[in-house]
Amino acid sequence: MTDISSPSAVARPGFGSDNMAGVSPAILDALRAANAGAMPSYGADEISARVATRLSALFEREVEVFLVSTGTAANALSLAALTPVWGAVLCNAESHIENDECGAPEFFTGGAKLIHVPGEEARIDPDALAHATRRNKGDVHSVQPACVSITQATELGTVYSLEHIRAIGAACRDAGLPLHMDGSRFANALVSLGATPAEMTWKAGVDVLSFGATKNGAMGVEAVVLFDPERAQEFAFRRKRAGHLTSKMRFLAAQMDAYLADDLWLANARQANAMAARLAEGLATLAGAEIMSPVEANMMFVRLPRRVIDGLLAQGFRLYTDRWGENIVRLVTSFATSADDVDQLLAAAREAA
Ligand SMILES: Cc1ncc(COP(=O)(O)O)c(C=O)c1O
Repeated sequence: MTDISSPSAVARPGFGSDNMAGVSPAILDALRAANAGAMPSYGADEISARVATRLSALFEREVEVFLVSTGTAANALSLAALTPVWGAVLCNAESHIENDECGAPEFFTGGAKLIHVPGEEARIDPDALAHATRRNKGDVHSVQPACVSITQATELGTVYSLEHIRAIGAACRDAGLPLHMDGSRFANALVSLGATPAEMTWKAGVDVLSFGATKNGAMGVEAVVLFDPERAQEFAFRRKRAGHLTSKMRFLAAQMDAYLADDLWLANARQANAMAARLAEGLATLAGAEIMSPVEANMMFVRLPRRVIDGLLAQGFRLYTDRWGENIVRLVTSFATSADDVDQLLAAAREAA
């Protein structure tokens, strides 16, 4: 992946990733407030307890919550808890666990194998999944299907419908396999669907969720949410062994607490999605621009004339290109993207075109 901006370029809005955004002011305030005085360490603090209570209320049932500082840790530890070392994780070829975690799922599971299940626009097809769950079952020469992982919203910026997740959940149930959801952009998908957190997860068959916050306004925190409390004890040991039991846990918890308070997480996601829609609308009228897949959350892949990419580069916009095919650029909006940011990008693109 090439960052086509140069470090010396004039500061411009970052459309390369939602990770390029800063931190929501309310979350920074919460970090400062959590700094006062001493608190018990390793998650025994009152803010961590409040986060667990908030997430149980949000998901409309008792859940077990484990905070970690990266999405890779959330995913890899979740999969490790669901997969024996001879297991296979069934996932789409576009998934972050396959392409962007440097083998962490394989490492944390102790060598389980990731097997691709096809489907349109980075979504797993439920029929293909049902077939994959039966593949080589019981054959001692093959890894054994052990769990399924889907990403919501997907790495292409598309969103699974509730019906689609339910169909995947049903295929998992039929095969006796647990279902993991990489919800690094959970909030963006949720507001896109207008669903409840419960509907998009356990009611549809999800067993373990990586609930993202970093991309949507936090400084660095993700929650692993276990819908089955029986998995909690093992997970606690796995997190510690992986070096993700943060001693000053209150600072991870303070971020998540403020993220969930007053529905900040939903407001942030609505802003990001609205800005993606505005951007897509503008790009639709740009000569030579082709949006490659439906814009359903806060991310899109766009084929642009080379001179437009070069023009944006020259003007200091921060973008990623090259990885997904010739002249294809990934554009991502965040809670911090303003209408003016979008209009600046569109004006620069039109000028270059
Ligand atoms: C789909 C998806 N999952 C997980 C992650 C989390 O990654 P990180 O370990 O960088 O926090 C990302 C970040 O890019 C992502 O896009």
